[in-house]
Amino acid sequence: MNMVLFMLLILASALEFSVSWTTPPPLPILPIPTRSQLKWQTRELIMFFHFGVNTFTDSEWGTGHEDPAIFNPTELDTRQWVDVAANAGFSLVILTAKHHDGFCLWPSKYTDHSVASSPWRGGKGDVVGELAAAAKGRGLDFGLYLSPWDRHERSYGKEKDYNEYYMGQLEELLNRYGSVSEIWFDGAKGSNAPNMTYYFQSWFGMVKELQGSINIFSDAGPDVRWVGDEKGYAGTTCWSMVNRTSIQIGTSNVGYLNKGDHSGVDWVPPECDVSIRTGWFWHKSQKPKSLSHLLNIYYNSVGRNCVLLLNVPPNSSGLISGPDIQRLMEFRKAIDTIFTIDLASGSSIKASSQRGGSDSSFGPINVLDDDHLWTFWAPSEKTNSHWIELDWEGKEVRFNVVRIQEAVGLGQRIKSHEIYADGKMIVDATTVGYKRLHRLDWVVSARTVRIRVVESRGVPLISSVGLYFDPFWHGKQ
Ligand SMILES: *[C@@H]1O[C@H](CO)[C@@H](O)[C@H](O)[C@H]1NC(C)=O
Ligand SMILES: *[C@@H]1O[C@H](CO)[C@@H](O)[C@H](O)[C@H]1NC(C)=O
Ligand SMILES: *[C@@H]1O[C@H](CO)[C@@H](O)[C@H](O)[C@H]1NC(C)=O
Repeated sequence: MNMVLFMLLILASALEFSVSWTTPPPLPILPIPTRSQLKWQTRELIMFFHFGVNTFTDSEWGTGHEDPAIFNPTELDTRQWVDVAANAGFSLVILTAKHHDGFCLWPSKYTDHSVASSPWRGGKGDVVGELAAAAKGRGLDFGLYLSPWDRHERSYGKEKDYNEYYMGQLEELLNRYGSVSEIWFDGAKGSNAPNMTYYFQSWFGMVKELQGSINIFSDAGPDVRWVGDEKGYAGTTCWSMVNRTSIQIGTSNVGYLNKGDHSGVDWVPPECDVSIRTGWFWHKSQKPKSLSHLLNIYYNSVGRNCVLLLNVPPNSSGLISGPDIQRLMEFRKAIDTIFTIDLASGSSIKASSQRGGSDSSFGPINVLDDDHLWTFWAPSEKTNSHWIELDWEGKEVRFNVVRIQEAVGLGQRIKSHEIYADGKMIVDATTVGYKRLHRLDWVVSARTVRIRVVESRGVPLISSVGLYFDPFWHGKQ
């Protein structure tokens, strides 16, 4: 009896040992994103609103000598702006609180060059406040751009005075309007003060002091970097990492920003800023870009490890124009149409190897679940040929888009990869990152699809894979 009990105890503890023990994930490869950077990345789409005196003067760069009386958007309704953004699938909206002309869309106490001197709302209006409230009401996040270059302010050019002015305004904006998720800086300077230094380190320090979870955008981050062009296109190779010390705000090497740096020590992923129209501000004569142009932008930004910051300029009535709304709804509908049916989900899947053996939690099946980032396929570190293969068991699938996502929470790793359909190579490419979309020039019919990682920093970790048919795409013209 005692002997049997003893045996049972031994068996129980052995069982407990074997079920509670499981292989942990591999170590991250630094640098890795912050929580706010990860949240930013999963947004995929951010909307920019360029609005101000330029909206009324038909210009892109104001002189700073505009009469505030011209600012009179009689039908302004920021709830319409955020409805448009939300309906199009954007979760964050960013406003030009002040552009180069220096006109402030909120009643700053440091200048009279603002909405307070305009006839709009009898001089009692505040566009920043109205948009912040509307965004909050619609469950969207809110961000700001405050132009360093100021063509109105008299202290501009006097380094200390102007930096004080600028920081006073930053403090107003970041203390008064609740949570701010992103702030945008550029290095533009007036020709009257080419040598004036902007005190970016002081500015950034105060931004982080006042807003704990904010992402700071500039050429050099620190949190999000410029992609190096205003077309909305990232490089076909696009690393989230750079060396911040190699970047000067305002005079950066755009090629470096566009591609990133596989040996970069800072996690500063790129944001692709582009306008839905030719200009950043609304002009009566301009029209929104075509749907196919917007889809090209989407594939070349979101599909290349970036976030798309799409500018949609409100018009001089203070509303987003009908043609822009229509185009945005077409854009949303197209993305939903393309990505609703995932052909990968009907496949069986195998891999070259699996970290921790076939009972571990790193099997290739993880690339077919919805929880993208933290469940992933990991191969064994003891092998060096890494692939996963989808198999439809004799059935053919037709697709022209392949989606691959890395578990970037543990670092961006893949340097090059190939895709094969029934053994024939159809893609030969470099980085993947948070999301890579390959739009193929023809429709592929195949029974098996293999993704092979050719080169990576450490073992590759793939969190998600999808295959789609894009009916809007007819190959390169
Ligand atoms: C700016 O600096 C350059 C180089 O030091 C100098 O030649 C130039 O005169 C300066 N310009 C102004 C407006 O101070
Ligand atoms: C970035 O920094 C790393 C580490 O110091 C260095 O190895 C790499 O060469 C740098 N990249 C460039 C482009 O200088
Ligand atoms: C602005 O857009 C609205 C539609 O949202 C339209 O009714 C209005 O006429 C437009 N204003 C101008 C000046 O085009």
